[in-house]
Amino acid sequence: MNYEVVIPAAGQGKRMNAGKNKQFIELEGKPVIAHTIEVFEADPSCTGIILVINEAEHGEFMEMIQRFSFSKVKKLAGGGAERQESVYNGLKHASTDIVFVHDGARPFIENPVLKELAAAAELDGAATLAVPVKDTIKRVENGEVLETVERSSLWAVQTPQAFRLSAILKAHEDAVVHHYQGTDDASLIERMNQKVTVVTGSYANLKLTTPEDLLIAEAILKQRKGEAKD
Ligand code: CTP
Ligand code: MG
Repeated sequence: MNYEVVIPAAGQGKRMNAGKNKQFIELEGKPVIAHTIEVFEADPSCTGIILVINEAEHGEFMEMIQRFSFSKVKKLAGGGAERQESVYNGLKHASTDIVFVHDGARPFIENPVLKELAAAAELDGAATLAVPVKDTIKRVENGEVLETVERSSLWAVQTPQAFRLSAILKAHEDAVVHHYQGTDDASLIERMNQKVTVVTGSYANLKLTTPEDLLIAEAILKQRKGEAKD
């Protein structure tokens, strides 16, 4: 099943506190965003990449695409104030029946799960990667515990998320009309009362958010390099 992927990379990376968009932080000499794009460049089922960027960084992104000779980036779309708006701007340029949305800041996604995700979206309309929550989660208000949430049904949701293009476009349009801001794209499908299937992901598929995530990132890359040599 062929698909195009929308990669939102138009954030500011405030929590990373790197003084620049975290997409351009280098891991083993390669920007985060290049690690992410590489996975889709290497997947034959991915027929196009729509990169959503801050217009002010257009030159930097173009330079990065040339430096790594990426050939699948078919469009640089302009980002919005919120991630949701950025994704919607990107989705407007998609043309395959199944479309993926994947955060530029998640460089450790691996190929095998992509096929499973596309198949689930084709069957059910929408699918997301997720992993079971490892921590005990409590609901807290004003510094006081209200309750401990039953963990067995809690999953931490990741990207990629995969959708039938018509369904996710409609869900985004409806969210705009009703001024709804979700924290991920699957939630927009949920509010349309449509099914979202969960495909089990990997704990290594972390989103680089705060500085300590970079230490984990280096460790993951080192381990993978070691495995590649074996
Ligand atoms: N993103 C985007 N447009 C926005 C906000 C976020 O395209 N207006 C992208 C980011 O570039 C990132 C992904 O959405 O690849 C996930 O967002 P997040 O991890 O929150 O990144 P930032 O918004 O850049 O970081 P922060 O919230 O710390 O500022
Ligand atoms: Mg953000």
